[in-house]
Amino acid sequence: MSKLRTTYSCQSCGYQSPKWLGKCPSCNTWNTFVEEIVQKDDGAKAEWKTSTSKQIAARPKAIADIAYNEQNRIITLDNELNRVLGGGIVPGSIVLMGGEPGIGKSTLLLQLAVSLPHLKILYISGEESEQQVKMRAERIKTPDLLSQINNRPEAGCYILTETSTQNIFKQIEILEPEIVIVDSIQTMASAFIESSAGTVSQVRECTAEFLKYAKETGTPVLLIGHITKEGTIAGPKVLEHMVDTVLQFEGDRHMSYRILRATKNRFGSASEMGIYEMQGTGLREVNNPSEILLSQREGDLSGVAIASMLEGNRPLMIEIQSLVSPATYGTPQRTTTGFDGKRLNMLLAVLEKRGGFRLGQQDVFLNIAGGLKVEDPAIDLAVCISIISSYDEISIPHDVCFSAEVGLGGEIRAVNRVEQRITEAEKLGFKEIYLSKFCLKGLDLQSYKIKVNAVAKLDEVFSGLFG
Ligand code: TYD
Ligand code: MG
Repeated sequence: MSKLRTTYSCQSCGYQSPKWLGKCPSCNTWNTFVEEIVQKDDGAKAEWKTSTSKQIAARPKAIADIAYNEQNRIITLDNELNRVLGGGIVPGSIVLMGGEPGIGKSTLLLQLAVSLPHLKILYISGEESEQQVKMRAERIKTPDLLSQINNRPEAGCYILTETSTQNIFKQIEILEPEIVIVDSIQTMASAFIESSAGTVSQVRECTAEFLKYAKETGTPVLLIGHITKEGTIAGPKVLEHMVDTVLQFEGDRHMSYRILRATKNRFGSASEMGIYEMQGTGLREVNNPSEILLSQREGDLSGVAIASMLEGNRPLMIEIQSLVSPATYGTPQRTTTGFDGKRLNMLLAVLEKRGGFRLGQQDVFLNIAGGLKVEDPAIDLAVCISIISSYDEISIPHDVCFSAEVGLGGEIRAVNRVEQRITEAEKLGFKEIYLSKFCLKGLDLQSYKIKVNAVAKLDEVFSGLFG
């Protein structure tokens, strides 16, 4: 007879306690403890197999003997997704995709499921009925996908509407899919845990079962996870530790652009991102993001500067907008969207101290166009230039861009991979780029059509632009 046990667990971080607590000692949130009944039956935990085949304990293997082939990755038709995953889906990997409701998670993964007709893909929906999934699939089906040759009649996309993981694994054993998609992990429930679906212990247990399944069979599993108001994947942080890759699907629901970003990736860079546009017929890849990130400008506008930055391995031209105006009440305001506020304060101090600009009594608003959050320090120079442009009411010519970090001494510092940045600027028709003097080693400036201004101090940029 298995022993029944209840625990109280924090619904925001997963902290467990034998008694109810008002405040979570781990994440300091209030009123998040919920009693969960846990069937304490260690032998059966995180087990996906329904048949009681004898478990063979793993034995150590020489690393040289382990077969591995980069070719094993499943390359999808979606280049953005391939890149964000680090070059396709890794067999046996478990990917968690988080995003706010309505952002397009189900659409993206259903699109993936129907676009690979030569593979057997199981799409498990705990949220929508078969008809609803079919309706969505009809919407996103594009003619060129239908015409693909398929010489495996049993392959294709299968839909299963089920929330009990034990029933799901029964079906998986029969179907033997090559990719499993779970929409969403919060709707799944395992019989080993008695609390309701979506609670911390259920989410954790179900993920553990899928994890075990993925590792034992080599089948990749893609999980969809909902996001709470605070922007974290609902359920405990521990979920992010369990999976191999965490993707975030973000964007403004009222705008059509969506950004897919890897925040953790055991099989690739975690700084890659993909851009999509939501259309009436599903999500479309955006292959030339710079064109959407640069707003269509008419006439001269002060406070706008363009930076050439890298997001992961991908060069992007991005527009920085500033508004500097005298502060009317007491402490001046500094407000940023998409840029670190502390970094802005530092750059303002540099401009004040090294450039002699009286910004102490000015409100400064800074905005990165396109809803991106930028961490690349190479946009520092463009940020400084846009602030001074707004302060002095002098607009920057449309065909000038910037790519450099600014140091505390007002010095212009080198950034990595300048060639890529210069090439992207040139490709988009910029005529001049400002770079640090210290990153020109090994560059053949004659080979570029764009004029490269190599500078060492902020003053040199100002005198070059504002004369
Ligand atoms: P959905 O994938 O259901 O979001 P999630 O699973 O993240 O909650 O996306 C729903 C939104 O996308 C909905 O507002 C309608 C819109 N949409 C389109 O604009 N075009 C389409 O082809 C599809 C399928 C959805
Ligand atoms: Mg959905």
